[in-house]
Amino acid sequence: KVNLKGRDLLSLHDLTPEEVAAILELAGELKEKQKQNIPHPLLAGKTLGMIFQKSSTRTRVSFEVAMYQLGGYALFLNANDLQLGRGETIADTARVLSRFLDGIMIRTYAQSDVEDLARYASIPVINGLTDLTHPCQVLADLLTIKEWKGKLAGLKLAFVGDGNNVCNSLLFGCAKVGMDISVASPEGYKPRQDILRLVNEDAKQTGCRVEIRTDPLEVVAGADVVVTDVWAGMGQEAEQAKRVAALLPYQINPALVSHAKPDYIFLHCLPAHRGEEVVDEIIDGPNSAAWDEAENRLHAQKAVLAMLL
Ligand code: CP
Ligand code: NVA
Repeated sequence: KVNLKGRDLLSLHDLTPEEVAAILELAGELKEKQKQNIPHPLLAGKTLGMIFQKSSTRTRVSFEVAMYQLGGYALFLNANDLQLGRGETIADTARVLSRFLDGIMIRTYAQSDVEDLARYASIPVINGLTDLTHPCQVLADLLTIKEWKGKLAGLKLAFVGDGNNVCNSLLFGCAKVGMDISVASPEGYKPRQDILRLVNEDAKQTGCRVEIRTDPLEVVAGADVVVTDVWAGMGQEAEQAKRVAALLPYQINPALVSHAKPDYIFLHCLPAHRGEEVVDEIIDGPNSAAWDEAENRLHAQKAVLAMLL
C-alpha cells in the first residue's frame, strides 16, 4: 500500500515509518536479485540526471550503477559545467531538466537549494547530500544494520563526533524505525535544535529514545551500533585544525568501543580519515560493517529510484 511514485526524497523526516520500511524491504529484494543475476529492469527507458556541486565516489558510482542495473540511464552533471555555474537559476534549471529527465539527484551545499529544485521540478528530486542531511546514506546504514542484527527497532545506536549532515539523517532514520540513538558531541558541535525538535516528533511516534550528550563513553555504553564521520566535512576544510582539536576525544578506538556490546557493529559513511575519527584497528576489524554499508548504497538507492521514478 506504500506508493512513493512522483515523490521527492529531500529528508527522511518526510517519510513515514511504513515508507522507510517499504524502501528497506525492496532494497533487500533487489540486492538478492542482483546477487543471483536475475534481471530487474524496473526503470527501462528512464533517465536520471545527477548534479554534483561537491566531490563524490560512492554516491556517484552507486547511483550510476543503480540506474544501469534497473535498465535506465544516468547522466553525470558537474554543476560547474552546467549553466547553473554561470548563474542560471535553480528554478529555470529545474523546469528545463524536467522536460528531459525522469528524475534528478543533487549533491550540494544548502538544503534550501535542493528544496527549491524540488519545488520547480515536475519530476522527483533526490537529495544526494547537503550540508544539513544525507538521507540516502542513512537508508544504506539501516539496511546494513538490519542485515547484521536482524532487526532495527529496540537497538541502540551511538553516534560519536560532529553533529553533522550524517548525524542529522541518522537521528531521523533511527526515529523512523524505532531505534534508540545517543549522540556525543562537544559543545559547539551538537546537532541543531530545530533538527532535534523534528526528530523528537518522529521519535514520539515510534517510541524510541533520543539523547544528546557530551561524554562519548556514556553514549557508547551498551551500544549495538557505533557510528562516526569526518570531523571537517566538505566545505569545512578551513576549520580542519580547530575541529581536530575539539573532536580528538571523540575518536573511535579500542578503548572507547570496549564499552559497547561485545557484538557491536561499526559504521562509517566513508571516506574515512584514519587516525582522526577512527583508527585502523576498528574500521578494518571484525566488527566493522563499513564495507557492506558502502555496498548497500547501491541497493538502497535502487529501491528509492524504483519507487520514486
Ligand atoms: N558516503 C558518501 O556519500 O560518499 P561519497 O562522498 O564518496 O559519495
Ligand atoms: N559529512 C561528510 C560526508 C561525506 C560523504 C561531508 O559532508 O563531507
